[in-house]
Amino acid sequence: MRILVTGGAGFIGSALIRHLIKETEAVVCNYDYLTYAANPDALQGVSESPRYSMQEHSICDSEALHKVFREFRPTAVMHLAAESHVDRSIDSAEPFIMTNIVGTYHLLEATRLYWNRLEGEKKDNFRLLHVSTDEVYGDVTDMEQIPTETSPYAPSSPYSASKASADHLVRAWHRTYGLPVMITLGSNNFGPYQHAEKLIPSMIQKAIRGENLPIYGNGEQTRDWLYVSDHVLALMAVLKEGEIGESYNIATGHHKTNIAVVREICELLEELAPKAKPHGISHFKELIRFVKDRPGHDREYAVDTSKIHSTLDWSPKESFQTGLRKTVMWYLSNNF
Ligand SMILES: NC(=O)c1ccc[n+]([C@@H]2O[C@H](COP(=O)([O-])OP(=O)(O)OC[C@H]3O[C@@H](n4cnc5c(N)ncnc54)[C@H](O)[C@@H]3O)[C@@H](O)[C@H]2O)c1
Repeated sequence: MRILVTGGAGFIGSALIRHLIKETEAVVCNYDYLTYAANPDALQGVSESPRYSMQEHSICDSEALHKVFREFRPTAVMHLAAESHVDRSIDSAEPFIMTNIVGTYHLLEATRLYWNRLEGEKKDNFRLLHVSTDEVYGDVTDMEQIPTETSPYAPSSPYSASKASADHLVRAWHRTYGLPVMITLGSNNFGPYQHAEKLIPSMIQKAIRGENLPIYGNGEQTRDWLYVSDHVLALMAVLKEGEIGESYNIATGHHKTNIAVVREICELLEELAPKAKPHGISHFKELIRFVKDRPGHDREYAVDTSKIHSTLDWSPKESFQTGLRKTVMWYLSNNF
């Protein structure tokens, strides 16, 4: 396998590349623009491998994309490059439109040109796996009607709307040009090396610095939490066994409200880092503060995962508790 990974210096992309280099024989080219969200340290221990190479370019740069396809000659593309933070998309949507929509368009075109010139088995076996999010389905208001892969999209934020747009382009490139694509729709990830702007790392770091822990609104927003290495295994399962043109929801059923997540982090810090507790409080939970809610904040995400369970050999290995413990321990020992 020769896999072109876009966004491989990000949180999930770097976990994917660590897996590909350590657990498989794949040759990997990491195509990443190294934006603020990238963390090259997350590739330490694999970036020295002769099976790893890096191209620092934007997916909006079609020349650079064509060149990497010509020179690297991938057997598959795993597309993770994206602007990924909802709050940033509310402050300024343009980078989300450019990278997530326009960038995906350029990647699709470069892939199409390359794939059109392949022949025989190489053409038949080629795949483009596009990594999307459960946020494209929007708020789930009725738990009796959890979105399946055929449910309509109803994105709420500029981030989720840009991801939904990209998904539509990917589907259209399959339908119109026959490009062998698959789409995954993953739930909220957590684990080592996640950027400090995201909920779990931000709460761990603020707590050990003795800062207040701001929770949007009443904290009752519910998410399905997926440990990052379980997401990686799901992506690998889809790449290997998924059907061309199909989408796969990836989630765990570990539904937690934001306030419950933050309380569990506080409990773990009480156990694992009691000395980090600031003076004047008797429990980390006393740092929690409720702040004005984010506009358009979806209350609940949930997806039906029966398709991936019944058609592919995947189920999560980590529970929320085991994954959170590993995550907190990692942040404590890596001084992020
Ligand atoms: N984090 C989650 O909870 C989650 C859940 C489901 C799906 N996803 C999707 O998975 C993918 C990866 O998410 P993540 O959390 O690792 O994101 P991330 O923000 O941690 O990493 C994104 C990576 O993409 C790179 N990048 C950004 N713009 C680029 C461009 N124009 N050209 C090339 N590279 C560019 C960044 O440098 C970074 O390394 C995204 O597509 C995201 O939508 C994320």
